[in-house]
Amino acid sequence: MIPHAQSTSTQPDTSRPARDGNARSWFITGASSGIGLALAQAAAGRGDNVVALARRTDSLIPLTEQYGAQVLAVAADVRSPEQLRAAVAAATRAFGRIDVVANNAGYGLFGAVEESTDAQARGIFDTNVFGVLNVLRAVLPVLRAQGSGHILQGSSYYGQTAHPGVGLLAATKYAVEGLTDALAGELAPLGIKVTLVEPGPTATAFLSALDVADTLPDYDPTVRTIQKSFGELPAEAFNAPDRVAAAILNAVDTEQPPLRLATGTTAVNEIRAALRTRLAELDTWEPVSSGVDTPADPSGQA
Ligand SMILES: NC(=O)c1ccc[n+]([C@@H]2O[C@H](COP(=O)([O-])OP(=O)(O)OC[C@H]3O[C@@H](n4cnc5c(N)ncnc54)[C@H](OP(=O)(O)O)[C@@H]3O)[C@@H](O)[C@H]2O)c1
Repeated sequence: MIPHAQSTSTQPDTSRPARDGNARSWFITGASSGIGLALAQAAAGRGDNVVALARRTDSLIPLTEQYGAQVLAVAADVRSPEQLRAAVAAATRAFGRIDVVANNAGYGLFGAVEESTDAQARGIFDTNVFGVLNVLRAVLPVLRAQGSGHILQGSSYYGQTAHPGVGLLAATKYAVEGLTDALAGELAPLGIKVTLVEPGPTATAFLSALDVADTLPDYDPTVRTIQKSFGELPAEAFNAPDRVAAAILNAVDTEQPPLRLATGTTAVNEIRAALRTRLAELDTWEPVSSGVDTPADPSGQA
């Protein structure tokens, strides 16, 4: 039988915290800012140990100054398998184990699919998809040897839906979602849990770090209009990263964490609308889809 992902329940199991009072060890990529930093602060703040990864460790100085030996700052670019292997070795040396992996580092690209250059497309896949794979290859030997662990995969509501202007960004997040659906089934029998984190708009450095494609006027009515509407969103449309981190901790602390955790009402509503549209279309076209099936052999022979 094909193993299923860990969560089959439709209700969050928030009643049975898995945390038993022992400090956990976290391994967090993209810990220099935004959601990764908030997660590192929340984990360290409650007494857990954190290996915080960033491309430049000077960006982690405030974290290490605040939490001392609880936080190990490691320089690593997620595009470098060697740096990640060294980070994992440093993590196990410092804390003996890795309990939670936040595969969080990533950035955005805005522009029509045609407008995005090959270099931009490959660049975002290098970090958002191959970076995620590099982290998995580095940490999984440790987690498999332990027979335990929880991997948080950095996705987005753009892992479930997309609109004009976010095609390449969404392509990376859909890729992470697809591989994670398989990964969850592969790791569940080994005692390792997996959760896709799907944030909605969050108040981080994400927009200022955004790569932007050159523009073709034909896409002004779609891509540029949406880009403008994003720029006009009020501050309250963006969730605070510490609240996103609190939601993630909630999921990490449950016996049966979800395979997918959307954060923020925008993410929930956008994903729900996309799923409903997809399901309705599947149902509408089912007669055509199933018309492809090979008719049953009336003689009863295969
Ligand atoms: N903010 C949103 O609205 C939103 C919505 C949905 C999903 N997300 C996802 O949430 C995750 C975190 O983003 P954020 O919103 O917290 O943005 P952020 O504040 O810009 O943080 C992104 C982090 O990723 C790191 N990073 C980028 N490229 C890297 C690389 N090659 N190697 C190592 N680290 C790298 C950055 O480190 P440096 O300091 O080295 O650049 C930074 O720490 C991303 O995966 C993003 O796609 C964000």
